[in-house]
Amino acid sequence: LISRAFRHQFIIPDWAGFTKHIEDFYWKCKTNTEGKVASYIPQLARMNPEYWGVSVCTIDGQRFSIGDTSIPFTLQSCSKPLTYAIALDRLSPEVVHQYVGQEPSGRNFNELVLDHNKKPHNPMINAGAILICSLLKTLVKPEMGLAEKFDFTMNYFKRLAGEENLGFNNAVFLSEREAADRNYALGFYMREYNCYPDKTNLREIMDYYFQCCAMEANCETMAVIAATLANGGICPITEEKVLKPDSVRDVLSLMHSCGMYDYSGQFAFKVGIPAKSGVSGSLLLVIPNVMGICTWSPPLDPLGNSCRGVQFCEELVNEFNFHRY
Ligand code: DON
Repeated sequence: LISRAFRHQFIIPDWAGFTKHIEDFYWKCKTNTEGKVASYIPQLARMNPEYWGVSVCTIDGQRFSIGDTSIPFTLQSCSKPLTYAIALDRLSPEVVHQYVGQEPSGRNFNELVLDHNKKPHNPMINAGAILICSLLKTLVKPEMGLAEKFDFTMNYFKRLAGEENLGFNNAVFLSEREAADRNYALGFYMREYNCYPDKTNLREIMDYYFQCCAMEANCETMAVIAATLANGGICPITEEKVLKPDSVRDVLSLMHSCGMYDYSGQFAFKVGIPAKSGVSGSLLLVIPNVMGICTWSPPLDPLGNSCRGVQFCEELVNEFNFHRY
């Protein structure tokens, strides 16, 4: 970092100027009071709607944060691109996509629906993510029990995050499991259609899925994860090669087309950057070869995306030329 600074080779040369813009967007979005905090479990319902944080990490490790960026939240659906990435890396896209599609579902994230091949539409919705958990559980190191597989997964998440703060929220895990009628219905529905690889223990798969949703991190850490994806799978903080570039390309392609629930098409049109949101109000934004951004604000719009987060993305591409096209 220091030698680059002396050579003036930063990916964002005018860092102070850039972060000033980020601050401006932050304050502008802060006044947005639209949306409702997720209420399907008490731990999320209790979240303060005022929380608002933005963290940026460039592929050369420059970092900036403003607002509530050190308060942990659960990853929820932001874990979906990560588990998908691990599955691609360990199993190859050919194997993974025998079981899950690449098409936006055009439906809600937890809808009881499979595509015309009787596969879940994509790995970014609940059905697809549950399926990915079954692949990780049964096809990747099948000798591992659930406890070992939890450690294996968390280790991956930590390496993506440059070994920064990453935890697990047991209360959220237990609540998710209690309030999971729809997810269980999806799980059984997929078993009825033989969607899983052989020998799948559904109870274990569902627990594993809820555990991934209940992993916990703050904006600063999630921005590093987004930056690792922006950097082709090499963590900008540790310089460790965590994922293959091909796996990352596939993850970003599906974040682009399917990452923002049933708003993905409009988001791809207006913002044009791969992103993934989760019900705790987090939003991962990946600007390939430039930077990762995480925004966090619990109030959600009717489709389930963070209101301030979506507004922030729109402000960002209005000012900077980050739209892919
Ligand atoms: O399984 C669920 O419904 C929640 N734990 C996660 C939902 C979420 O963030 C939505 N995802 N696409």
